[in-house]
Amino acid sequence: VIPVEGLKSPEERLQPFAWFQKMRKESPVSFDAKRNSWDLFRYDDILAVLKDPAAFSSVRPQQGPVLLGSILGMDPPKHHQMRNIVSKAFTPRSIAELEPRITEIMGELIAQTEGKTEIDLLQSISIPLPVIVIAELLGVPAADRQLFKDWSDRIAESVEDDSEAAIQKFLADKEKVRRELDDYFMKVTLERRKQPEDDLITKLVQAEVDGEKLTDEEIMEFCILLLGAGNETTTNLITNAVRIFMEEPSLQEKLRQQPELMKGAIEEVLRYYSPILAMNRYATKDVEIGGKQVKKGDLVVTWIGSANRDEEKFPDADRFIVDRTPNAHLAFGQGIHFCLGAPLARLEALIALPLILAHFHDMRLPEGTKLEAIPSTFVYGVKELPVQFTPAAY
Ligand code: HEM
Repeated sequence: VIPVEGLKSPEERLQPFAWFQKMRKESPVSFDAKRNSWDLFRYDDILAVLKDPAAFSSVRPQQGPVLLGSILGMDPPKHHQMRNIVSKAFTPRSIAELEPRITEIMGELIAQTEGKTEIDLLQSISIPLPVIVIAELLGVPAADRQLFKDWSDRIAESVEDDSEAAIQKFLADKEKVRRELDDYFMKVTLERRKQPEDDLITKLVQAEVDGEKLTDEEIMEFCILLLGAGNETTTNLITNAVRIFMEEPSLQEKLRQQPELMKGAIEEVLRYYSPILAMNRYATKDVEIGGKQVKKGDLVVTWIGSANRDEEKFPDADRFIVDRTPNAHLAFGQGIHFCLGAPLARLEALIALPLILAHFHDMRLPEGTKLEAIPSTFVYGVKELPVQFTPAAY
């Protein structure tokens, strides 16, 4: 947990883009001896790494107490096999069927803001929405919803500082959450084996490819991955969208008048304020990147948050262009690990944002607000997003 040079202070983490730009220009492939890490900043270099899983593995050399030990951290052929099975349970069609329910949940969340003219967007909407959706998708009973939310909050917590005590506490907390989640999902998996229901865990229990099925442990891993990979990222997509709507207020009326622009606007939010800034890979052999010699076993960090601002790929990269085309951002990754939840995240944003615009007019940051970034260098978002608004007349 050694700090990343350009992202040490809260201010740098809120606006990492100046550092990204400097690194793309001055040192696009650089080695940080303190972290023992290669950092890549240019779009083309990053794309090449993500598309070459044979040379750049997703498997951590030493497995620590990590939460995301599922397909995210596997290589072919195991990755391919597992991804095939889980994709069967997680198809774009089964996601599209969630639309009416997501709309209903949004309606309930918005109804709870009635009478208010200021909310914290995270607490009111962008945290609960994905948590409720994932919980229902998995088949978590409504009575366990709060339990579930506490777990996902605890998964998302970052280390407080880089002191030894804070790191030890962080690791112990993660292990404790992990044990609680293991027990919980093991129990549900066993129940679904006995008594199938209409939910994702049952689909995972039943899914089969070439006679292969998932074991109880693999199902458990996958459920925990969804919780860890799907919630905070989607929260940040919705929050980051509203943040830019307030930074560029003309977007609000524009998107209300031209709702057909929303799909592209969401892609531009993904590019401009990418919810995930970086991913790790490990070189499986000595390999050259941008004239630099990377050694077998070296950690290679792909800063997709920087790739998405690369002027070589995106003209006027630091401008939010609502209808930017083409927009081949890397916010969901690329290649074999491309985000399995992308259709779900896009759908949630596509339902949530028009409803937010419809109910909250003239959204603005309360005067004097100082936004504070989440204390993480891999996840990009703010801790709170206070929004003052004029409630729409019904
Ligand atoms: C993988 C981003 C939402 C499930 C990934 C990766 C990225 C990403 C960058 C690739 C990681 C890598 O290459 O190492 C995002 C963003 C999201 C989002 C920005 C929201 C805006 C979700 C949701 C789910 C999900 C809602 C599920 C409910 C997964 C899974 C993988 C993954 C299972 C692993 C795929 C594999 O290894 O084959 N995501 N994600 N994500 N994501 Fe997402």
